[in-house]
Amino acid sequence: MKQLIETPFTQRFGIRHPVMLAPMDKISDGRLASEVTRSGGFGMIGAGYGDPDWIEAAFDAAGDLPVGIGLITWCLLEKPKLLRRVLDRKPAALFVSFGDAEPIIEAAKEHGIPTIWQIQRLEQAEQALEAGTDIIVAQGQDGGGHGMDRGLSALLPAVRDLTGPDQIVLAAGGLADGRGLAASLMLGADGVMMGTRFWASHEANGSDIAKARLVNSGGDDTRRSSFFDIARGLDWPGNYSGRVIQNEFSKPWLNEPEAMKAAADDIRQTYEAADSDDFSVRALIAGESLDLVHDIQPAAAIVESTVRDAARLLSNAPSYLLNQDQPT
Ligand SMILES: Cc1cc2nc3c(=O)[nH]c(=O)nc-3n(C[C@H](O)[C@H](O)[C@H](O)COP(=O)(O)O)c2cc1C
Repeated sequence: MKQLIETPFTQRFGIRHPVMLAPMDKISDGRLASEVTRSGGFGMIGAGYGDPDWIEAAFDAAGDLPVGIGLITWCLLEKPKLLRRVLDRKPAALFVSFGDAEPIIEAAKEHGIPTIWQIQRLEQAEQALEAGTDIIVAQGQDGGGHGMDRGLSALLPAVRDLTGPDQIVLAAGGLADGRGLAASLMLGADGVMMGTRFWASHEANGSDIAKARLVNSGGDDTRRSSFFDIARGLDWPGNYSGRVIQNEFSKPWLNEPEAMKAAADDIRQTYEAADSDDFSVRALIAGESLDLVHDIQPAAAIVESTVRDAARLLSNAPSYLLNQDQPT
């Protein structure tokens, strides 16, 4: 599809569409990332906690198409060797989220790799700006996966006010279609990053059972909590929680944080004993935008419909204005 929308993001990175794939841990593999790049967006491998062999395989699967890679900051800070290996693969960008990424940004710059820092609070945007990050992603709490407590609708324009016009800023969290893209541009973003919508794509690295459950669930079924971090034995720093589709296993614990911690060993054992596709126990990570996800689509169709619908909405915007012929 030809380019319909131009922003500093598309200009700077030479892409056709201002749509980035979120680096969803293991779900955004080389195939999905390269498909988003092929369709004109920005493909991103989701390397999460940083398994070196999986990362090599994902880059190999992406082939010659430029894709970025995203890792969890507090994990990557503990793995300097992995950081060097990742930078040596010359990704289209290095994406980091969840922690003070300043030393990582510095190392990427030395290797000439563009950097992306996903922030959850305004004070973190300040840090990202000071570090000279190429792209700041403002993540609202309605998104799938880990994050913090701020909604996108005030955070995003506040980030733009902070950065001024020259910084590339993307919006993430609860965005799944052209309405999300058009609204994000109006709130000050140069494009969007979507996770949950691309999870429900043909190319996403997950089972048909998982994808069917995404389609059959809605935003009301999701909630932020630390339950599945405890169940998976992941030691996340204090202020982060994860938005996940809650299930029969998690629900009884959600309002009992202390009891949850006390029962951590039992919870973990039950979790590990369950089949990987048994989502009555296992975590299915997704955000509130499930309300807008009604089918599994090719990734290219998601990129194209998002951009086409946003362009249509933007071109209709003057219809809101009265007395269009008269200067004010
Ligand atoms: C299944 C899933 C896994 C995710 N894993 C990661 C991750 O490993 N690292 C990361 O920075 N963000 C991760 N995220 C969060 C995304 O970066 C992004 O903020 C979020 O998907 C945006 O909201 P949306 O899901 O409503 O599009 C994940 C999101 C989902 C849905």
